[in-house]
Amino acid sequence: MKKLISKSTLQRRVRELARQISFDYQDRRPVLVGILKGSFMFLADLARAMTIPVEIDFLWVTSYQDRHSSGIVRLNSDLSQSIKDRDVIVVEDIVDSGRTMKYIIKNLKNRRPRSLQVCCLLDKKTDRPPLRTFSYVGFSIPPGFAVGYGLDYRDQYRHLPYIGVIDAE
Ligand code: IMP
Ligand code: MG
Repeated sequence: MKKLISKSTLQRRVRELARQISFDYQDRRPVLVGILKGSFMFLADLARAMTIPVEIDFLWVTSYQDRHSSGIVRLNSDLSQSIKDRDVIVVEDIVDSGRTMKYIIKNLKNRRPRSLQVCCLLDKKTDRPPLRTFSYVGFSIPPGFAVGYGLDYRDQYRHLPYIGVIDAE
């Protein structure tokens, strides 16, 4: 495994994102919706660095088998509360093809939140257009399979405090 983003670089960027979100949502009380399992560490650090009150909820979806998106997104576990008329910020680990995020956005928009934004830590460079529509993106990374800081390969590596890339098969 090759190290891609160090712990201190991650921490610095996550604090920046938290500062920006806190500024953008001052006088509101957004619901941070963490996408499980990959976003758990990012969400924990992001929430801790916020200077405004937030609520936290989780959505558990799966779309990946090993290194390849199956293309079928499944909702394993739903939110614990209604998000109708709430300011929602989806917190995701990584966007690759964008299929998972497309499903999540469509699903959550149906519940009529007041606003819906996406905060993703990693934007993987692929053929799709860049994530201009997302307000908060941590890092753009080259193609390759990223692990650590919540991200897994077959449920391994999630505990690492940095982001690494594992070798192609
Ligand atoms: P997409 O649907 O192709 O955008 O894939 C996004 C989902 O697949 C994310 O929610 C991740 O959990 C997972 N994923 C995509 N790329 C990687 C990666 O490089 N490492 C770990 N998980 C990934
Ligand atoms: Mg994920």
